Amino acid sequence: MAERNIEIKRAIKEITETGKLLWQKGWAERNAGNISIRIEKYIHDNEEKNLKTKKTFYKLNNKLTNLSGKVFLVTATGSRMRDIGKNPDESILTIKISDKGDGYYILSNTKNKILPTSELIVHLLIHQELLKNKLHEIRAIAHTHPTELIALTHIKKYADEKNLNKLIKSIHPENTMFVNEGVGFIPFLLPGSYDIAEATVKSLQKHKLAVWEKHGCFAVGKTVSAAFDIVDMVNKSAKIFFLCKAARLKLQGLSEKQIQKLSVLMNNLH
Ligand code: 13P
Ligand code: ZN
Repeated sequence: MAERNIEIKRAIKEITETGKLLWQKGWAERNAGNISIRIEKYIHDNEEKNLKTKKTFYKLNNKLTNLSGKVFLVTATGSRMRDIGKNPDESILTIKISDKGDGYYILSNTKNKILPTSELIVHLLIHQELLKNKLHEIRAIAHTHPTELIALTHIKKYADEKNLNKLIKSIHPENTMFVNEGVGFIPFLLPGSYDIAEATVKSLQKHKLAVWEKHGCFAVGKTVSAAFDIVDMVNKSAKIFFLCKAARLKLQGLSEKQIQKLSVLMNNLH
């Protein structure tokens, strides 16, 4: 029991701390962004009574049989990243997928009626795919609006996976060292839709971060902090790009040879 509570406490701490960072970075205007974590061992006697009651059951449009019985912490729709830490109990929900996988129960007893993020289907489909691929240790997913990275996707040339990756790697060594597989790129689709969820799942089969054109990105990691790190490294390249542009300086970039050497260095370290 004690161990289980520690897992939840740790997950809440991770969400609130990263939520604050996202706000400080300027990537979380108003209610922008959402976070989820899969809970490995969950039990909370007080909340179990919420199970299997119609009042707390929410139907999903899609059946997620591979997630039946799984428990997640998810940020509430409309919650502000900067405020999550002030009132985590009213900003983060515990949900449990029904046995049939056709919906979920809200286990949290909140004062106000709050619902999971509007991007819930995206989070759940990603968690399902991670479990299908036995990537059990990757339990955290973060969606955020990194300003410079979004700005890049407004430039026609970089609204393209190949060009975007070439630019990102050519600017900052970290992206060859720690994001060597590159990032995925998803042309604009409606947020919260099944289409964008499917496209994101597909993209994350090969990447740890999927960029949503003119909107933001989704990143996965063992912890919320690890997911944040990926966004931070990738956005850094975009930031340097615009710094040079704003100063009307020609961006030299790392040469292909330098990038290759970094790649070899990183492979040798692993
Ligand atoms: P939620 O407040 O519903 O999580 O939405 C935030 C967001 O960024 C949607 O793309
Ligand atoms: Zn968003």
